[in-house]
Amino acid sequence: MMKPLPVIRIGICGLGTVGQGVWKHLSRIRPDLESRLGVKLELTRASVRDLRKSRGVKVPAKKLTTDSLAIATDPNIDVVCELIGGTTVARQVTLAALAAGKVVISANKALICAHGAEIFETARRHGGHFLFEASVAGGIPIIKALREGLVANRFPLIYGILNGTCNYILTQMEEQDAPYTAVLGEAKELGYAEADESLDVQGWDTAHKAAVLAYLAHHTWVKPKQMIVEGIDRITPADFKHAVALGYGIKLLAVIARDFETDELSVRVHPTLLPESHVVAKVSGVFNAVSVRGDVAGTTLYIGRGAGQDATASAVISDLVDAVALLKNDRRAFITARKASAPARPARACRLAPLEHIRCRYYLRMTVSDEPGVLAQVATAMAAKQVSIASVIQSAHEPAGAASLVLTTHRSDEQAMRATLAKLARLRCVLEQPLLLRIGDFAD
Ligand SMILES: NC(=O)c1ccc[n+]([C@@H]2O[C@H](COP(=O)([O-])OP(=O)(O)OC[C@H]3O[C@@H](n4cnc5c(N)ncnc54)[C@H](OP(=O)(O)O)[C@@H]3O)[C@@H](O)[C@H]2O)c1
Repeated sequence: MMKPLPVIRIGICGLGTVGQGVWKHLSRIRPDLESRLGVKLELTRASVRDLRKSRGVKVPAKKLTTDSLAIATDPNIDVVCELIGGTTVARQVTLAALAAGKVVISANKALICAHGAEIFETARRHGGHFLFEASVAGGIPIIKALREGLVANRFPLIYGILNGTCNYILTQMEEQDAPYTAVLGEAKELGYAEADESLDVQGWDTAHKAAVLAYLAHHTWVKPKQMIVEGIDRITPADFKHAVALGYGIKLLAVIARDFETDELSVRVHPTLLPESHVVAKVSGVFNAVSVRGDVAGTTLYIGRGAGQDATASAVISDLVDAVALLKNDRRAFITARKASAPARPARACRLAPLEHIRCRYYLRMTVSDEPGVLAQVATAMAAKQVSIASVIQSAHEPAGAASLVLTTHRSDEQAMRATLAKLARLRCVLEQPLLLRIGDFAD
């Protein structure tokens, strides 16, 4: 008689956008996955906040609960997908499931960024596993690329577009010549932006994802407050015109750079001028892109849907397949698991680069009074901080009596630019806080 297949029991905490996607696709492809994996997959229980809410997937009422912690600690459940979001209930659920030795699958970059060290330590201590492919860049398998495909490499530079909402807004602003607020409103109507858009447009969501990538690549937890984080809300259609005149497009990028000579790491998130011929500059709409420079493989580039129900469910299900491998063949899997899911009792963490070591070229846009001698005053203020001007675009500006001054600089550093901005803001002829953008000359 044939031995019955082992059953892997799955609990899904949170049946919102992502949770329903996982339920839907897993139900659809389950027979195929089961025959490939040699196990039965059972969607055992799911938790929600509101049992009466109608959902896009059919879940038997007896499988639904509002008690996520009961799923996390249920001895019959092997794999817990935490798809609730936030950092309170999600943290409790994650830690409880890991403490019970389960595999936890997460899409929650905010949680990993805030509590990653505690989560990995709990997984290590109790023999649980934490998988998080869906937390960065949705459908792009960037976590596996860094951890497995590129394991032979060190990573001097990783950069990319990690927030589809911001990329959609920037693309629309450029293509439609439309102001930020109008495009943001439209993005909300289309469901691309949250009602409270601040996490996305101010760069914090990108910073959470950058923290996850920096940890994977450099074994160092970098908190958003230790990064340079700037959003897209001060960019105007005029900035796109100036950028195009200079040969650039504008993208919100996360940039994770490590200097292996000084062993310094910098993580930053900011709108960046990218040469318009650059592949990443051409990635538009809600798509994400990540460029990874490895010291062995060279540069590899990943482009795809960074969010949304289907792309994110695809990443969760890929972790589920890894979870089955971990659970199925305990001893062999344990070895891969150590490598794959509880990365490193960290190798040596590296130092964060001081501001004066973070160098690039800059774009400065300011509104100045339209009178003789203004450019000389601005140039003098910049020269006082050793910032030299590479190009100038000057144009008339509303209201009358004001002009727009756009400068690019030669290479300088963050410390000098901060001092320059403070000095410029004190000039009487500078009428509002200048906008500073970085120029991304990433030679690949
Ligand atoms: N949406 C995306 O495209 C995307 C992409 C990548 C990563 N993520 C991440 O995936 C996670 C889930 O995102 P989402 O967009 O699916 O969120 P969502 O649509 O708001 O869904 C959250 C789910 O959690 C449930 N929930 C909330 N509080 C709960 C509680 N205390 N107990 C039990 N259930 C609770 C909600 O129940 P009700 O339905 O009853 O309200 C809902 O089903 C987040 O960490 C997010 O950052 C999302």
